[in-house]
Amino acid sequence: MCCTHMRVAERNFQPRPSKMTLSLAFFIFLLAVNVPAADGGKVLVFPHDGSHWVNMKVLVEELHSRGHAVTVIRAADSWYVSETSPHYNTVTVDVEGGGNEEFFRVFVSEVIKIKRNKESLWARLALDMELKGKFFELHKKVCEMVVHMFENKEFMRSLQDAKYELVLTDPANGGGVMLAHYLGLPLVFNARWTVHGEAHFAVAPSPLSYVPLPPSELTDRMTFFERVRNTCFYILRMQLYKQVAGPNYSTLAHRYIGPDVDYFSLFQAADIWLMRVDFVFEFPRPTMPNVVYMGGFQCKPAKPLPQHLEEFVQSSGEHGVIIMSLGTLISELPHDLANEIAASFAKLPQKVIWRHKGDRPAALGNNTLLVDWMPQNDLLGHPKVKLFVSHGGTNGIYEAIYHGVPVVGIPFVFDQADNLCRLRAKGVAKVIDVSELDKKIFNFTIQEVLTEPSYRINMQRLSRLHRDQPMKPLDTALFWIEFVMRHKGAAHLRSESYKLPWYSYHSVDVVLFLLTAALLILLIFVGLVRSCFRLCFKRKIKSD
Ligand SMILES: *[C@@H]1O[C@H](CO)[C@@H](O)[C@H](O)[C@H]1NC(C)=O
Ligand SMILES: *[C@@H]1O[C@H](CO)[C@@H](O)[C@H](O)[C@H]1NC(C)=O
Ligand SMILES: *[C@@H]1O[C@H](CO)[C@@H](O)[C@H](O)[C@H]1NC(C)=O
Repeated sequence: MCCTHMRVAERNFQPRPSKMTLSLAFFIFLLAVNVPAADGGKVLVFPHDGSHWVNMKVLVEELHSRGHAVTVIRAADSWYVSETSPHYNTVTVDVEGGGNEEFFRVFVSEVIKIKRNKESLWARLALDMELKGKFFELHKKVCEMVVHMFENKEFMRSLQDAKYELVLTDPANGGGVMLAHYLGLPLVFNARWTVHGEAHFAVAPSPLSYVPLPPSELTDRMTFFERVRNTCFYILRMQLYKQVAGPNYSTLAHRYIGPDVDYFSLFQAADIWLMRVDFVFEFPRPTMPNVVYMGGFQCKPAKPLPQHLEEFVQSSGEHGVIIMSLGTLISELPHDLANEIAASFAKLPQKVIWRHKGDRPAALGNNTLLVDWMPQNDLLGHPKVKLFVSHGGTNGIYEAIYHGVPVVGIPFVFDQADNLCRLRAKGVAKVIDVSELDKKIFNFTIQEVLTEPSYRINMQRLSRLHRDQPMKPLDTALFWIEFVMRHKGAAHLRSESYKLPWYSYHSVDVVLFLLTAALLILLIFVGLVRSCFRLCFKRKIKSD
């Protein structure tokens, strides 16, 4: 555990008045030139740092383009959220946020090492404990940030005076949830995970018989033993989440919201859940009226490629192009692994664009272009691109679905294997385990997805289904955010379920009551019959 000590800085908050007034001026200017939908709401955003911000930023920019003023709260050492932007104001809280990119990079390379060397279970377990510790640390730092804000009365007054209309947050951490309840503001989630795992499990009934708990890598068709596994996984995971998130969020909820408040009920009280989910990808499951689906909201039609890329792509002729990206955390593969992949690519008639950092693999063929960064969405939308080799991050997966490009997946950590398992279940992807990856298996898998037409046909069908919606997912998301602003919340869509204790929720009390009543009636009935019988019997004896 790389236990870094918190640096609680002496300096206070920096609401940065100059930048705020500047943006305000810009905002008034926008109003003056008559932007459409210029109701001009005020939205307070508490994001989850890291790749989750990539999603949140799409919503923030769209809110801005529709004339709303957005303020984003960030930690001083924020990993992804930049301090200045033309799209939003920032409020920087001078604490460390715990978004530790280096930790996750090292972590991922450890995972690769352990998986490939097929190291002992203990090595895996030790690494998992380290990850658990890291998540505990992350939540603790968010809580420290919240305490730092709440204890600064002047700062909280400035937030109150700003008259925000809602808090938009990612419930992967609880900072925005606490803030919304403290300020008494409506709460909108941009969610796939809460601090207790997959977000649906927090609000909607989730029968474990056909709803697999991510990331269990199960599907909606489970055998008996898979259902046993799903249930055990659920029980263990819920315990884990409570251990990781519970202590610190409980302290906050009790101190600032109310002495008996259960921190998780604060999550469940959100007005709207904008889910980064689409049912071409997720398995069908029960849902709720305040859950809105916006999976694929970040997808856009492809733009033309830069000239050098366009030329490279066109040079592939009839064979087409393969693109490969393993995300930001896995930009540097172990040398020998990179070499196996390069050797396999070199034998293909296709051209390859590979996002790869680190040394140039020795076996690299002249059909392979290494790049630091690529316009992934524009490439996936290019008609010459035939295949996407991916680590299984959700952004890339939704882009592949949107553009109808089949996938070869190499999952490493977090939900990646589970995401790819869903694609495999739909017949649009093949998955390679990193412990088995060599040039033979890589070649074999790629050849199969390229030559067997069903992968492409299925993916293009998913793409058509995904695009056939009454409203674009991003417009749907914005509609509901504006809905909450117009109506000051959406309490009428929220069920009362979360206010019930577990025994009421599952009607255990009612069943017990009815069973007792039935038993009493039965006893009375039996008693009556017996005394009747005895009475008749006695009379009979007498009359005899
Ligand atoms: C978080 O929980 C740990 C362990 O229970 C405790 O030591 C720490 O003070 C808590 N931090 C906050 C901010 O509540
Ligand atoms: C690429 O390499 C192959 C053989 O390795 C060769 O036949 C071909 O001419 C090369 N192409 C270019 C453009 O250098
Ligand atoms: C790759 O796989 C294909 C089909 O499985 C096979 O025909 C081809 O010879 C393989 N190429 C190499 C270099 O192993």
